[in-house]
This record gives sequence, C-alpha cells and structure tokens, in this order.
Amino acid sequence: MNKKLSILTVCTFGVFGSMSAQHQPQLGKSPINEIISAMTIDEKVALLVGFGDEDTPDSIPSATIGFTKKIVPGAAGITRAIPRLDIPSIVLADGPAGLRIDPRRPGTDSTFYCTHFPVATSLASTWNAPLVKSVGNAIGNETLEYGVDILLAPATNIMRNPLCGRNFEYYSEDPILAGKLTSAMIQGIQQNGVGTSLKHFALNNQETNRTGNNVLVSPYVMRELYLKPFEIAIRESTPWTVMSSYNKVNGEYASENSLLLDSILRRQWGYKGLVMTDWFGGQDAVKQTIAGNDLLMPGLKKQYKVLKDAVDNGKLSTHILDRSVQRILELIIKTPRFQQYDYTNTVDLVANARTSRMAAAEGMVLLKNDNLTLPLDKSQTSRIALFGISSYDFIPGGTGSGDVNRAYTISLAEGLKQAGFQWNEKLAELYDTYIKKETDALPERQFDDPVQRIAEMELSDTLIQAQASCQDMAVITIGRISGEFHDRNITDDFLLSQTEQKLIENVCTAFHQKGKKVTVILNTCGVLETSSWKEQPDAILVAWLAGQEGGNAVADILTGTVTPSGKLPMTWPVNYEDVPSASNFPLAGHKESIDSTRYEEGLFVGYRYYDTFDKPVSYPFGYGLSYTTFDYGNLSIEKKEDVVEISCRIINSGNKAGKEVVQVYVSFPDKNEDYPTKELKGFAKTQILQPGETETVTVHIPLSYLKRYDETAGCWKLPQGTFRFFVNSSVEDCRLTGKYNL
Ligand code: GLC
Repeated sequence: MNKKLSILTVCTFGVFGSMSAQHQPQLGKSPINEIISAMTIDEKVALLVGFGDEDTPDSIPSATIGFTKKIVPGAAGITRAIPRLDIPSIVLADGPAGLRIDPRRPGTDSTFYCTHFPVATSLASTWNAPLVKSVGNAIGNETLEYGVDILLAPATNIMRNPLCGRNFEYYSEDPILAGKLTSAMIQGIQQNGVGTSLKHFALNNQETNRTGNNVLVSPYVMRELYLKPFEIAIRESTPWTVMSSYNKVNGEYASENSLLLDSILRRQWGYKGLVMTDWFGGQDAVKQTIAGNDLLMPGLKKQYKVLKDAVDNGKLSTHILDRSVQRILELIIKTPRFQQYDYTNTVDLVANARTSRMAAAEGMVLLKNDNLTLPLDKSQTSRIALFGISSYDFIPGGTGSGDVNRAYTISLAEGLKQAGFQWNEKLAELYDTYIKKETDALPERQFDDPVQRIAEMELSDTLIQAQASCQDMAVITIGRISGEFHDRNITDDFLLSQTEQKLIENVCTAFHQKGKKVTVILNTCGVLETSSWKEQPDAILVAWLAGQEGGNAVADILTGTVTPSGKLPMTWPVNYEDVPSASNFPLAGHKESIDSTRYEEGLFVGYRYYDTFDKPVSYPFGYGLSYTTFDYGNLSIEKKEDVVEISCRIINSGNKAGKEVVQVYVSFPDKNEDYPTKELKGFAKTQILQPGETETVTVHIPLSYLKRYDETAGCWKLPQGTFRFFVNSSVEDCRLTGKYNL
C-alpha cells in the first residue's frame, strides 16, 4: 500500500473509534449491504462529503485546482477513508486535455509531468472516434500510473454560443458529434481500469455567473439538444461517474434537480453509477442528496454538519443516505486504489507525445488553400518569415481545471525548424524580446483571474518589406486563449485586434507584391471573426489549442507529412450578431443573461439555425479542405432491425493521400417549424486513401436518433413517413441524397 495512504489511514482511524477488526465486515470481502449495516451514521455521512484538506476554510475561494496535497498532490479532491471497514480514500483529478497533478513534490527530485493532449474541440475536429479513443487510452494510462482513480473528464456541454469560455473543453454545437466522440473518450480512459466523470450535467453553456445562472429551456430542446450528448455517452460508454453542473435548470440547481439526476439520468437512461457535484457546486446538501447527487466535492465541514443534523431530525431518510453510500462503495470497489494496484509513477511521455502530435495534426482544419499554397515545397520555400507572437509562444491549451502541467510546449518556430525550415533569426529575436518584456509586465495572475494574452507586436512597414525581400514566404499565427470562470469578449478576442488586422494586411501586401505567399495559422480556443480578412492570405489553417506538440503538428500539415482531414465541429459565423443566442448571452450589452439565460433560440443552435434560415456563414459546420479531393457514389440505405444503415463508396480523386469524413444529415417527414431543416445523425471517417483508392463507408443510425421528444406525451416518438438522407462533405456540401420510408 502506498505509504501516503497508510499515514492518512492512521490519522483517520482515530476518527471512527478503535473497534477491533476481527468481527466486522471488510469492503470487497463482505456484501456491500453488510458493510452499510455495520457503518455508523457518522461514517455514512462522512462518506458523502469529500475529504477536503482538514484545514479547509468553509469560505475557500473558487480556485480549486491542485486542491489536495494528500496521496497524489495536485489532484482535485479525495473521498474519506473508513479504515476499520477497509474503505480507502480514492483520488479524483482533472481534466479533459490530460491528467492534471503537481509536476513536482517536496522531498523528491522526481517529476510528475503529464502529457498535454489537444483540447476536446481539436479532438472533435478529427471526427475520428477510434483516434479519440486512443487519446483517451493514453490519458487513462497516465491517470492509472500516477495513482489517480477518477479523471474528471470528458466535458461535453453543447457550444451554444461561440464566446463561452470553456468551449475549448467541449466538443461541438451538434449533439451526435459530441456524444459519439465523448463516448469514445470515456471508453479509451476506462479501458485502463480507471473511472471518468462525464461533465457538466447539465446546460452549463456559459461561464458568467456559472454558479448562480438559471437556464430557462423547454423540455424538448433540453432533451433533443443539450442532454443528447450525455445520453449517448451514458448509453454507449457507461462512465463510472457523472458530475452535476453549477448552474440552475428551470429554477433548480442541477445538483439539486431530481428531474435531471433521478427521472432522466437514472430511470430513463438506466444509469447505475454515482453523481458528484462540481467543486463547491449547489447550495443545499440535503436537497442534493435527495435529488440523487451522491458525493459532495471537494467537501466542506459545514456540509457534513448539515447532513448529520438532517439525518438526526429525520429530514434525510437513512434509505436515501444508504442509497448514496451504496453508490460510493460500488465505485470505490472498482478503483485501482481499492484493488491496491501498485502504480509506478512512471508514464511513457515519449509515446504519449507522439499520440498527442498525431491527434493534433488530424484535428487541424484547412479553411483556405488558394493555388495549392500548401503543402510547402522545401526546395522552393525553405526561408520563412514567421510573424505573430503565437508563432513563438504557441498556446497548447486553455486555463483553469482544463490545463495540464506539461514538461514542454513545442512552438511553431521550433516545429518548423525541426521540419527543416529556416526563419529569420533577427525577427525571432525581436519577438522573443517583446514577448519576455510584455509577459514580465503582466500582473500576477490568480488561478481564477481572467486569462491575459499580451497584445500583438506592431511591426514597421520597413521591416515587413525587408522580410518580403529576403524570405520565400510568410506565416502569421493568431493566438487566442480562454478558460474556466470567464467568457470571451468580442473586441480583441472574437474580432481581430487592430494590430492583428494591420499585420495581416501589411504582410499580405508586401509578400504579394513580390509574388510570394502568406499562410495564417489560427492557434485558437474557438471561433474567430474571419470574413473581414480571409480574402487576403493565400492559406488559412485552424490549429486550435493543439497540446504540447502543437508546433510539430502544424509543421506536419504545412510540409504535407500529414494531409489535413479536420472538419469544423462548430459554425464560424460572419458576425457575432448573427449568432442565434447572441441576444441571450451574458455579454456587456446583455446584463439580463447574468442571473437567468433564456434559451429562446430553441433547437436553432449553430448550423441548425444558419442552414434552416439560409443565413450566410464564413465557414460552415463540417467544413474542412484536404490536399486531395474525394468523389462519392454507390449510395445505399437499408433498415436492419433498429438501425438505418447508410453506405456509400468514397474514391480519392486527387493526387495526394488523404482521409475523408462522411457526414449523414437527415430531414424529417414532419415539417414542424420548431425543428431544423436537417440534422447530423451519423458520420464516419475513411482510412488514409491513396490517390485512386476507394473505400466503402457505412454509417449506422439507430432509430432512436430519428425520434422526436413529444412534450405533451412526455416520451420519444418515431415520426411516420419519408425521411430524406443527405450524405455530405460539410453541412452545405451535399454529395448524395436518398429517401427511406419508415
Ligand atoms: C472546476 C470545474 C470542473 C473541475 C472541478 C475540479 O471548477 O468546473 O470542471 O473538474 O472544478 O477542479
């Protein structure tokens, strides 16, 4: 047993009296109900409240990362041990882009770095479930070998609005893409024998006032859009735990909401696992427990007292108390810590870095590539003028609990150099000096302070002209970061700053005058305004927050080592004002969305809106270029038991190897104005196809995905009539259509 644990065990032993061990049940050896019968009320209540640090002040600030220093320092929390019954503490740690624990510990020179993988949005852009599962497997192995039992991931809230500060931790504006890839992530992590926590359940779609905001949403919209990714993940991957969200839903905190946690999650979806709060989430510990929230994390002394008093005065029945105790014990039994797995504190950071790099490259989305600017031919364009602070200070991920303590970050400059390109050393020095000076001048940032990114460096025309004369081509990186606790802004965030606009304009003018090309790289946490400037550069590549190997992954795409195959998992609108939820999102101008947010747009989120109302966008959902082209043919639609099987043949009709994402959208027989014209109901990605090579792709759509939620009847119904199927390369780019009468 790990020595830390034994110390903790001793100090906890005293709390529960020194009953001799020989005549009492032991977890794992005796049936759980015997364990529960042998527990005192104190022990039961103690188990429901996380074992925050003993000296946890009840008014601890919202910063929670790295909270516990016990057992695995830097984890987010632990549960309480009850040694006399052989119940150990288990360890819970973040997060969605990799395990987050302290990289160093007092008293040892050993390090405990974890791999920073691409963020969820980047993984979603791969549209490749097996690949996402392989990333999950790598994260799960690090979780296991560092002694953590539950990884507090994945997060799969719908991207209702492009400015939500945590969108980078989420997958998509579409519930099928989000649900299928969330399932793959959970399967990948849990195949290591550790657990996950599917979060944040539910409707946590903004960071502003996240612990108090009341989401007002109609039942069919909640179920068909916002809960659907969770339902798919629960039914298809069985996460060990679910994390309830901070916000209220239709007046009740999610963590106190029995409609969510009991009726829907358990009775309708059949979930048998445990629900925990988000850290310090909710208000009323008794209501939370009664509603079906079993574990209060990270745990505060006052919660213990409130629950104990409620049991003593009959407000909390022992039946409900035992229900949560049972779920917690059933969880503990599954954990490596209970099974005394002898974790090594050794992980294969080299192999996992390779996985991270490969996933990052596959998630990159090529938005523009005029006159085959890319891939670069080193014999023609070996000297690159590298502009933009993010070229030299590449952003691997977002801030908050979704960050990772990684050993390094490969910048684009380093990635290009390793790929055999040279860039102008003088220009690099200018940037490095500026970045250091400006970064040093930033005020000390607390964990939950808004993220700060230094302003883009202004460059003189003379300097840009000089670069245009001596370098073969230009690369400009625009960077954006966001994080937990804060939503993004429009100015200098969604919109490019004046300096960034001028940089693109001046570099394009200077290099185009010399007949040389310009590529823009978007190292971004999410959607940016692109319409006003996208005509200028010759190529645009979305790199996202691509993890610690980001610079190498961009180089792999620029050199053609990897053909881009990413597709946008959310729409890139022309203007922020075009976003259907723009008037109901808590921005400076919309104070009314601070305390409660009306989801008045209904199902019309993302492409469901733009596609249905023919609203022009800058780049549509599911869009992404390749270095090759693909032709579609041989469509067949068959119904087999409770699945509709769509298959078609894809041929690589270009002259480079590549992968294609086949997207199947469906329009329903009923023309109901509450519903979008068509919705994504399935997708599949080909293997790498060589020029001329073909692959038959089959997409399975469960009939349950073709049902509508009938609010009056309170159940799902399959509309009768003819369904139309669209086999597309993006939501706007239809390649094959067919009909089927269900
Ligand atoms: C945070 C986040 C949640 C995270 C937890 C533990 O506030 O909302 O995603 O897992 O607390 O750090």
